[in-house]
Amino acid sequence: MKDSVLRTLLVSFVVCFICSLVVSYSAVSLRDAQETNKLNDKRSKILQAAGIFNPNLPVEDQFNKLEQKYIDFSSGLLIDEVDGLDLSTYDPVEFSKKINFSKAVNPDQDIAIIKSQELYGKIYILRDQDQGIDKVVLPVRGYGLWGTLFGFISLGADLNTIEGLEFYEHKETPGLGGEVDNPNWKNLWKGKKIYDLRNLVEIEVIKGKVSQNDLNIAYKVDGLSGATLTSRGITNMMHYWFGDNGYKTALEGLKNGS
Ligand SMILES: Cc1cc2nc3c(=O)[nH]c(=O)nc-3n(C[C@H](O)[C@H](O)[C@H](O)COP(=O)(O)O)c2cc1C
Repeated sequence: MKDSVLRTLLVSFVVCFICSLVVSYSAVSLRDAQETNKLNDKRSKILQAAGIFNPNLPVEDQFNKLEQKYIDFSSGLLIDEVDGLDLSTYDPVEFSKKINFSKAVNPDQDIAIIKSQELYGKIYILRDQDQGIDKVVLPVRGYGLWGTLFGFISLGADLNTIEGLEFYEHKETPGLGGEVDNPNWKNLWKGKKIYDLRNLVEIEVIKGKVSQNDLNIAYKVDGLSGATLTSRGITNMMHYWFGDNGYKTALEGLKNGS
């Protein structure tokens, strides 16, 4: 009986059963913690884009300093409430996939290759002591070489000067397109301008290095070497989200104080 086939099978079964219980329990009990970590990672990227992230303080406390609003893309207005939505948890990317809360992007205009756009965007506003706008953070996304890059860009009080750019998810190759996460490259964005004097989107990731003598230096960022396709994807992303389908009308409204 000691070495019987039945005994071997029984022991294997009991071991497998106990292991599966442990794995299932861990998966279920850790799910909330994983969701919280994911949310906090996104929040820390928003804070980093705005240049106000302190790794020694709880993310949630820092994040609470930001005011959140919806952007109604059809009117460009900033609004506090939308029926059926909760602003504090609203994720524009998630809602860009919901039929009643999104619209298909006309392929002629879909330079960022997002296919469908949420009806309501989201803006994070950091106010100064006089309750004026100090910075805003806006979600951006667009296709690179291997997939969509998801991130946040921050603009200063003039709503044109870039304060920071952070990506929280992408599929680009480490060392090539993945250099979008390189702090040196991200630093190149600081101080660059989105719109030119005619209010056209001019920001561009060029191929190679920007010449110090370039008259349009304010609108140009060095390309990622060996990753022209990712670089081009980021240019297209900026042109889409700061163009007429994206934040342009809302930013004009904010600039005019409405
Ligand atoms: C395995 C592999 C991974 C690559 N990953 C990227 C990438 O993430 N982003 C990118 O733009 N190009 C990537 N490339 C290179 C592109 O195919 C293309 O050659 C490049 O974008 C051209 O840029 P360049 O003109 O600066 O060399 C990769 C190529 C290979 C073979």
